[in-house]
Amino acid sequence: MSYRHILIFLVLIAMTGTTLAAGKGGGLDHADTNVHDRASLQRGAALFVNYCMGCHSAQYMRYQRLAEDLNLTEEQVEEFLVMGDREAADYMLTAMDASDAEAWFGVTPPDLTLTARSRGTDWIYTFLRSYYLTEDGWNNTVLENPAMPHVLWDLQGIQRPITETYTDDEGQSHTRVVSLELDEEGLMSARDFDRAMLDLTAFMEYVAEPAVLKRERLGIWVLLFLGLLTFLAYLLYKEYWKDVK
Ligand code: HEC
Repeated sequence: MSYRHILIFLVLIAMTGTTLAAGKGGGLDHADTNVHDRASLQRGAALFVNYCMGCHSAQYMRYQRLAEDLNLTEEQVEEFLVMGDREAADYMLTAMDASDAEAWFGVTPPDLTLTARSRGTDWIYTFLRSYYLTEDGWNNTVLENPAMPHVLWDLQGIQRPITETYTDDEGQSHTRVVSLELDEEGLMSARDFDRAMLDLTAFMEYVAEPAVLKRERLGIWVLLFLGLLTFLAYLLYKEYWKDVK
């Protein structure tokens, strides 16, 4: 392969990368999460345990690991995480029975351990903020007719859809939601609610890949080690060439 071939090959790889990324983002808000912000992860964990684990599990995550990774004190663990008869060594499982869940919602609420990877963080962040109320009940612009009710409505308030009517190629008219408007205030301001959903999304991102915290910490040592190695190699080089020159 010539250099030109290699170059073309690399450009092609870069292009497919960007088109894939663009395809994923369609109409979603960007979730500017920071998994290294422990306070954000702690707030997200508290929201997850209080508002989501009634139905969902994070079945590969233990409370103990969570407490260690998030630097939670014993009091915080008691307060936020380990409730009732759950133990620190337990996995984060919902108390809900799968067959009950199916009877109530028509589907079993999926395990959320890996959702940040399968759906992406932008999807989760936008989904959680896109519920709206109509005469037929809750709906969502990201996941149409979701089996999941708007469990955070007391925090967010009630959004109503702004719709428009359009005619398709066959002359049929349809309505679609163009935007959402806050109709009834919740306990949080819109800004605080967005912030809270960012924390929750960051938490789900961490749960999907807890090693990210350790790996990046390890990365610093690897770089320092390489730096030291370069310095030693330089000294050695000086030493060898001293006699030659
Ligand atoms: C009352 C039960 C219930 C609660 C509480 C609940 N969910 Fe759900 N959730 C569901 C059900 C049921 C589905 C399946 C929805 C569907 O497929 O239409 C779902 C689906 C989801 C999905 C989509 C997963 C996927 O890949 O399709 C996400 C993300 C999610 N829930 C996040 C959350 C978060 C975050 C919370 C806490 C704020 C939460 N849920 C609280 C019942 C619940």
